[in-house]
Amino acid sequence: MSFDRSIKIAPSILSADFANFGAEIQAIEAQGADWVHVDVMDGHFVPNLTFGPPAVKAFRPHVKTVMDVHLMITPVDPYIQAYADAGADILTAHIEAGPHTHRTLQAIRAAGMKAGVALNPGTPADAVEHLLDLTDLVCVMTVNPGFGGQKFIDMTSKVRKLRSMIGDRPIHIEIDGGVDPKTAPLVAAAGADVLVAGSAVFKGGSVENPDVYGANIQAVRNAADSAIS
Ligand code: DX5
Ligand code: ZN
Repeated sequence: MSFDRSIKIAPSILSADFANFGAEIQAIEAQGADWVHVDVMDGHFVPNLTFGPPAVKAFRPHVKTVMDVHLMITPVDPYIQAYADAGADILTAHIEAGPHTHRTLQAIRAAGMKAGVALNPGTPADAVEHLLDLTDLVCVMTVNPGFGGQKFIDMTSKVRKLRSMIGDRPIHIEIDGGVDPKTAPLVAAAGADVLVAGSAVFKGGSVENPDVYGANIQAVRNAADSAIS
């Protein structure tokens, strides 16, 4: 089967109701989410704290699609097995989180997960050149990580460069931060295929009113698809 480069929408549950994750995950999947994006923050690599492995493990039975876990933590390596045991399908580490991303990506794959590498806005595309053969996903941050609801930073030229570096290799390009129907076409046209969206998916909806999630997901998807068709 050929590698799936079609647009995938990955809602970030950072914008969900924190008292109701199971129902929120079920609602976004029923409303068309392709993947579920889980933002792990340590209050050290980024100035915010979110989910440890037990929380991620509790999400697992609710996720029927792909659990895409974005680690904004340092160090990474001591926690890889714990996130594998928690059921992550994809585990993404930041290249800025330590000096040995090559080793980290090998360890993530050895633990049975797909390996992702994330780049902060200030980090150039070239930084991943020698990591690509160990990588299943490159996450291009379009905000400085730490919080949902921030303004999109244009990284279109970085995405284009990565897309050409990747060529035919089976590697996803994911965009994270400030994705909405206005910004999605820019990154889709540049070659991204996975769009993380927190506030743009959850705004105005709830588990009691999930159709809003569906309309929000569809709006981002349509905007992205229209830029590549
Ligand atoms: C930022 C997180 C993002 C964030 C996206 O540190 O990695 O996944 O939740 O949220 P929005 O779409 O609201 O920018
Ligand atoms: Zn994220």
